[in-house]
Amino acid sequence: MEAIAFDTNGGPQVLRRVALADPAPGPGEVLIRVAYAGVNYAEAEHRRGVFGPVNGLEVPGLEVSGVVAGLGAGVDGLAVGQPVAAYLPDFGGYAELAVTRAEFVLPVPDGLDLVAAGGFGCVAPTAYGIVAAAGRLAAGETVLIHAAAGGVGSLAVQIARALGAGTLIGTVGRADKVARAEQLGYDLVLPRTGFAPAVLTATAGRGVDVVLDPVGGSVRAESLPLLAPFGRLVAFGDAAAEADLSLPLLSLWKHNRTAGGYNIGDLARRAPGLWRAHALAVLGLIAEGKVRFEVAEVVPLDEVRAVHERLDAGATVGKIVLRIAAGA
Ligand SMILES: NC(=O)c1ccc[n+]([C@@H]2O[C@H](COP(=O)([O-])OP(=O)(O)OC[C@H]3O[C@@H](n4cnc5c(N)ncnc54)[C@H](OP(=O)(O)O)[C@@H]3O)[C@@H](O)[C@H]2O)c1
Repeated sequence: MEAIAFDTNGGPQVLRRVALADPAPGPGEVLIRVAYAGVNYAEAEHRRGVFGPVNGLEVPGLEVSGVVAGLGAGVDGLAVGQPVAAYLPDFGGYAELAVTRAEFVLPVPDGLDLVAAGGFGCVAPTAYGIVAAAGRLAAGETVLIHAAAGGVGSLAVQIARALGAGTLIGTVGRADKVARAEQLGYDLVLPRTGFAPAVLTATAGRGVDVVLDPVGGSVRAESLPLLAPFGRLVAFGDAAAEADLSLPLLSLWKHNRTAGGYNIGDLARRAPGLWRAHALAVLGLIAEGKVRFEVAEVVPLDEVRAVHERLDAGATVGKIVLRIAAGA
């Protein structure tokens, strides 16, 4: 099979097209002929070596859509030829064939096409998990979402709205993203620079109940004091690659604050049933018409380097998927 891979950590230029042996599904696994592969910021981090140094030839890609091409021993409830969406905890999505455990494979339901399904398996459970599980959103609560126009951000705002959130505030790192984020359903979109005083002004000094933060560093540090009593800060990324917030518990209990986190890889290892429950919850919201799951761009596989350049620069908006084989 053909794939995009890298064997050196570095910039987008390390990504190259390679020919690899076709993978085979082991017990409990599903082989997928990939149609579309979602593009995630984590794949730029993987390429750069943020998750550890490269070990041989590695194929990035955390989520795909396609059709089932083979079933390992013991897999029930799926059939060869069936359209599916999948999460790949061990990467491997930028390829014509991908293998993952059956518990991370979902039949594509009516209302979701293969294009959108390609960007679902990582982003959708993450967006639901940060809002509902880690954020423990209650009806009427105010939410602050950083990287508001990104893949996760553009879905998290809709899920929060669907689950009954009150005021939804987003921040974006570039002025040209404000208008785009405003279309997603935020009540207020702020440029990242100077967001903290602006959030306090917008909430009449009360602050927010939930902060969803994939940026980290100074953004995390400035967000924590914005929590209203019993508010929750959910850390789920460190795109800024700055030193992370560290603090004694004293500053949490003295101000009725909670700091927590979300990590889909840990969930996949320790509680895969929750990945599935969260993914199905999003499918339920889509079926009810409460969430629109849309892909902003479909990009040919040969343009993967250009997409990664934009990821590195923080210049993407919405969800991007790579077209691997549209008719798979
Ligand atoms: N913990 C988990 O399990 C999990 C799962 C999925 C995703 N994530 C994290 O969630 C975040 C969103 O993921 P995504 O794939 O949907 O990406 P995305 O939001 O579409 O793109 C990443 C965004 O991060 C922001 N950013 C802030 N500082 C940046 C910097 N120095 N360089 C580049 N971008 C920067 C940019 O938005 P602004 O211009 O608005 O700042 C950029 O658009 C990422 O941080 C990702 O690692 C975590």
